[in-house]
Amino acid sequence: MVIASSPDIAKEFCKTHDRIFSGRHLPSVYHNLPGIMDSSIVLSPDCSKSWKLLRSIGQNCVFSSKAMESNAWIRKEKVMDLVNHLRTNKGQVANLEDMMFATLANIISTALTSRNLFDIHGQAGDEYKMMMALVNEVIEKTTTLGLVDFLPILKGMDFWKLMRNQEMFTKVRDEITQAVEGDELNETLLSQCNYFQACIKETLRLHVPAPMLVPHRAIETCKVNNYVIPKDSMVLVNAWAIARDPNYWEDATSFKPERFLDSKIGYRGTHFEYLPFGTGLRMCPGSGVAFKNIQMLVGSLLHYFDWSLPNGADSNYHRHKREVFYNSEEGKAIAFDS
Ligand code: HEM
Repeated sequence: MVIASSPDIAKEFCKTHDRIFSGRHLPSVYHNLPGIMDSSIVLSPDCSKSWKLLRSIGQNCVFSSKAMESNAWIRKEKVMDLVNHLRTNKGQVANLEDMMFATLANIISTALTSRNLFDIHGQAGDEYKMMMALVNEVIEKTTTLGLVDFLPILKGMDFWKLMRNQEMFTKVRDEITQAVEGDELNETLLSQCNYFQACIKETLRLHVPAPMLVPHRAIETCKVNNYVIPKDSMVLVNAWAIARDPNYWEDATSFKPERFLDSKIGYRGTHFEYLPFGTGLRMCPGSGVAFKNIQMLVGSLLHYFDWSLPNGADSNYHRHKREVFYNSEEGKAIAFDS
């Protein structure tokens, strides 16, 4: 196994020798599932004809700018489902992390199959629990993307982190309120909120949802920086360490969205010090969709509710449990762990 832990080495594997390291190293759990490798983008062992075909179908239906534009109503509808659900369940405890995940999953499943995967409103029901347990199990066992290709790494999105810094939190909310200015919230307005965008990028930097990306495989023997990497070696890109490399990031471990304000660094894999979606041939084709989904979901939750830490808690407060309590008395939503 080889691990690339610096931007320079990541570039060697994913740009200079991209084709050679474009194979996938599959977790053994998939080896007994016949047919799955040819019908999945992420699990395809190499960049075969079927992988190319699946990627181009995905491009047409989901990933392209045109497809993203025509799916904007789905994002809005599913996010408003969640907002309305929270509104109508005043004072009740909600596991926000799971509900955000379910909402994001429903956006993708509706774009692909015109159906919801989760019933947000029946979330306490057995079906919902079973589905969530299954999703968690798949994520745990495979350490790759969620339910194969289209249920991606969304469980890692940490809304909580945004909430801990009150100053930043207020700044984002003010920016969104000003952009909306009496209008209805929509993604065009949200995309003009530069500080908010920078917060999402900074969250993805410090909390890389797939810290080692998805394992790559050498399809042939190759020499990299004078080391011989044998055919079939597993190659991991340590996107987590790269995003905190002090040679590239000033005050690397601090949450500072401002660093993205006047920066050309984006999430499209062209800057090797920032690879939340990977780079090269096997880069996440859903990066644009993912960013829009997160933007709409987090933007709406920030805009439609007031959020605060438990009484007296400050920015050093650490969460211990997954549940986020929610209480919308008098239009206030209070999120806290216990
Ligand atoms: C925050 C959300 C997401 C993150 C952080 C993320 C990240 C990643 C990463 C790191 C990879 C592997 C890159 C590599 O191996 O070098 C990947 C692959 C992939 N992602 Fe995403 N992803 C997200 C959302 C999405 C969404 C919304 C979709 C679909 C609409 C999607 C579809 C895929 C597919 C199909 C692959 C496999 C690509 C291949 O093997 O050729 N992802 N993603």
